[in-house]
Amino acid sequence: MINSSSKIIVRNTTPEDFSKILQLSKAVYSFPPHWTERQLTSHLEVFPEGQFVAIDSSSGQLVGMAASLIIRWDDYDLHGSWKDFTDAGMFTNHDPVHGRTLYGGEVMVSPEMQRRGIGSAIYAARRRLVERLRLPRLRAGARLRGYYRYADKMSPEEYTSKVVRGEIKGMTLNFQLKQGFRVLAVVSDYLPGDPESLGHVAVIEWINEQVATPADYGPRDPRFQPIFP
Ligand SMILES: CC(C)(COP(=O)(O)OP(=O)(O)OC[C@H]1O[C@@H](n2cnc3c(N)ncnc32)[C@H](O)[C@@H]1OP(=O)(O)O)[C@@H](O)C(=O)NCCC(=O)NCCS
Repeated sequence: MINSSSKIIVRNTTPEDFSKILQLSKAVYSFPPHWTERQLTSHLEVFPEGQFVAIDSSSGQLVGMAASLIIRWDDYDLHGSWKDFTDAGMFTNHDPVHGRTLYGGEVMVSPEMQRRGIGSAIYAARRRLVERLRLPRLRAGARLRGYYRYADKMSPEEYTSKVVRGEIKGMTLNFQLKQGFRVLAVVSDYLPGDPESLGHVAVIEWINEQVATPADYGPRDPRFQPIFP
């Protein structure tokens, strides 16, 4: 939900957005690495259609960003790290010829603008891209933000299971679940140095039912299945 006086526009990223994205990255993440101009330039070179920004049309402010690439999933290990899936943030592994999976390398919203529907608007644009390119799925690593509060009580797998079942509010993961994603696995050392997730993420998947076949669905781990009433 956006303030009625402002309208959020999601459009493709341009080089003029870079300085604002670099600032946004530092405002959102208290820990390195932050995005660099070299990485953002590379994203536009390899896959301009996959890069989005969200702009508050009333102030002209850049309030969100998402970065994606296409990968051939079988070239990767399900338990790989962000660095592996994104070629250390450069996206030079983007493979639109053989790849059938849109991979989310980033989504972030300005801290003071979170919980107003901007992340949802960005994800709607991402899903439209998947549909337009007729890709069967979108996958990403969702930070287990908030896990640090539970790390002395349970494993990241137990934490994820509880978030999926609605027993714990999982911050980022709750957002992704609300976007229609399902959890395939929990991976450690995905984002080393993240003090909130302690490096753990849930590997998540959204299926484009217009084109997906049964073979496109990732493994369904019973620990991470939602409970339907
Ligand atoms: C994750 C993120 C992009 C979500 O963007 P957003 O604009 O706040 O998301 P939305 O307002 O569209 O949220 C939609 C729904 O997701 C859920 N949600 C979003 N943030 C949540 C949070 N912190 N805790 C619990 N649920 C949350 C809610 O159900 C929300 O709907 P509601 O506000 O009506 O309850 C944003 O919180 C962010 O930038 N986080 C820091 C960076 C990050 O961790 N990115 C993900 C990398 S994997």
